[in-house]
Amino acid sequence: MSILKKQIMSINHIKAKKNKEKITMITAYDSLFAGIFDEKVDIILVGDSLSMSFGSDADTLSISLKEMIYHTNAVCKGAKHSLVVLDMPYGTYTSKKQALKNAIKVYKKTPAHAVKIEGGEKKAKIIKHLTDNGIAVMAHIGLLPQSVRADGGYKVKGKNEEQIKQLLKDAKAVQKAGAFCVVLEGIVSEVAAKISNSIEIPTIGIGAGADTDGQVLVWSDAFGFFDEFKPKFVKRYLDGAKLLDEALKQYISEVKSGAFPDDAHSY
Ligand code: KIV
Repeated sequence: MSILKKQIMSINHIKAKKNKEKITMITAYDSLFAGIFDEKVDIILVGDSLSMSFGSDADTLSISLKEMIYHTNAVCKGAKHSLVVLDMPYGTYTSKKQALKNAIKVYKKTPAHAVKIEGGEKKAKIIKHLTDNGIAVMAHIGLLPQSVRADGGYKVKGKNEEQIKQLLKDAKAVQKAGAFCVVLEGIVSEVAAKISNSIEIPTIGIGAGADTDGQVLVWSDAFGFFDEFKPKFVKRYLDGAKLLDEALKQYISEVKSGAFPDDAHSY
C-alpha cells in the first residue's frame, strides 16, 4: 500500500492549474457515479442540469435547494478527492441576504467545497458578499441556462462587439468579487480565449472552444445516456444508452428462456 496520501483537491489547487495544466470537470448527481469519477477529474459539479438530464424537465428552473442538497450529499459520499461544487438553483440568490442564507445552508448541510452562481457583472455584489463571508464561489458567464426563458432560448454569446465587451466586463467583475474560477458557457471560441487571457482565475469552458483553462461536460451527454437533443459542443465518449439496451435485452431474454440464473448464480 502506498504511504503517500492521495491529494484532496482544494480551490487553491484549482487556481494553481491556470497556465500549467488543463482542469477537468464533469457533473455527477449520485454517489455511484461520483465514486467512478472521483480523483480522475479535478472537479465534480452537482449541476442543476440534474433537472433536465435526470428529471426530464424542459429546463433547469424547477430544481429546489433541498433537492440539490440531497444530491450533493450523495455525491460527497462517493467523491473523496475531487472538488465538489453545488450549483445554486434558480431563485436562491436573488439578493445578497438570500444568497448568503442559502449558501450557508449548503455549507452547514453538505461537505461541498464551493457553490456555483450564474451571472456576471450583475451578480458581482452577491458573489462578493458570499466570498467575504467565507463561501468559495465558482462563477458562470455567457449562456446562462437559468435565464433561458428570459433570453428566449439557448443563445451563443460573443457574436457582436457589445456582447464581447460585456463578457469581458463580466469576467473581470466576478474575478474582482472573489470567484476562484469561472465557467464560460456557449461563447464564440476566440472570445472565450480572449477572456481566458484577460483574467487570472481559471476559466472552465462548455461550448467555448479549446482555449479555456479547462472543460466541463454533463456526464449523461458525454457518455451517451441523454438522447433528447445533442448540442454541437457535446462529444460522446461512449454509446451508453445503446450498450445498456443490449445488456438489458440479454437479461430479459435469459430470464424468459430460463438461462438466468444458472448454477453459477444460484445457492
Ligand atoms: O448544470 C450544469 O450542469 C452546469 C454545467 C453545464 C456547467 O451548469
